[in-house]
Amino acid sequence: MARILVTGGCGFIGSHLGQALYERGDTVVVLDDLSTGSTSNLTPGARLLVGDINDRNLLEDACQGVDAIFHLAAIASVERGVRDWTGTHRANLSGTIAVLDAARVARVPVVYASSAAVYGAGGQLPLDESQAVSPLSAYGADKLGCEQHARVGGHVHGMATAGMRFFNVFGPRQDPRSPYTGVISVFCDRLRRGQPVDIFGDGRQTRDFVHVGDVVAALLAALPAASTAAPVFNVCTGQPTSVLRLAETIAELCGTPLAVNWRPGRAGEIAHSLGERAKARDALLLAEPMPLRAGLQNTLAWLDERGNGTALGAAVPLVRTAAAA
Ligand SMILES: NC(=O)c1ccc[n+]([C@@H]2O[C@H](COP(=O)([O-])OP(=O)(O)OC[C@H]3O[C@@H](n4cnc5c(N)ncnc54)[C@H](O)[C@@H]3O)[C@@H](O)[C@H]2O)c1
Repeated sequence: MARILVTGGCGFIGSHLGQALYERGDTVVVLDDLSTGSTSNLTPGARLLVGDINDRNLLEDACQGVDAIFHLAAIASVERGVRDWTGTHRANLSGTIAVLDAARVARVPVVYASSAAVYGAGGQLPLDESQAVSPLSAYGADKLGCEQHARVGGHVHGMATAGMRFFNVFGPRQDPRSPYTGVISVFCDRLRRGQPVDIFGDGRQTRDFVHVGDVVAALLAALPAASTAAPVFNVCTGQPTSVLRLAETIAELCGTPLAVNWRPGRAGEIAHSLGERAKARDALLLAEPMPLRAGLQNTLAWLDERGNGTALGAAVPLVRTAAAA
């Protein structure tokens, strides 16, 4: 049984990770400023410290006696980075350096959230980890900065880290009311109520949608793989889905006709995003990812439960092991 610090543990991904750690018998410490997270997401039995990851004293306290850190706290929004360049930088890169520095002092490994946003628009699809990185947003640039500082941490301080380049993550607890949330939670929320969805452009843009259960499995598997070489791993499915196909599938699952409000394409939006998962699959021994349809059913079931007042329910097991898959 280990004692694990999860920064951002009251958020979407962090709360699922905390739950998985708890279920395997670990003691969880959460550091979260509750800016987008909620205490209703807190892992049972977890110690919660409310505040900013840039608060050195709080971070020191949070690190007391821990064996490892999962660093997920960030302002997870490209759009916020446009409006508040320095504020998001402080949370996303300065905050990560603060966490790495605390881990250096505590002599513990760090698995941290990076993003597919590091790739930018170029590159050969599917994107693998050896391809050139060229972020097009402050958010992506800061995530790339996290990877660079992790590499420095390994080189200069002998720290063990692993960076996880999440693609489009979806699943229960992703708040459809948040302006920064993913397209799946918004589509699910609207279509299950029989409402039209907004699609920007022609709907043929594609994304690599990965279920949060697969993200948690990758995070857990990455901890033993953390090293001074500061490896980075794509966390994706390798399956492209167009936004229109996504809307059609969710409408079908909801048993509702699809009505679309067609909107002009958004400037700067990447046409296609697709990851190659071979490196993570082979190095971390990951099971096959959850099929999109099953992930959508799981997400819709959660929205139904939430509508009935049981907010934290999840209809299918979120974390599958290779043996169980
Ligand atoms: N959801 C995705 O599709 C996706 C894709 C790529 C990368 N990521 C990354 O994964 C991580 C988790 O994302 P998420 O989707 O769960 O987002 P989220 O907003 O649900 O969770 C982030 C958590 O961090 C907390 N937080 C923010 N700034 C903080 C600060 N300065 N100090 C302490 N706590 C702070 C928030 O309150 C929240 O609980 C982030 O690092 C994000 O950039 C997410």
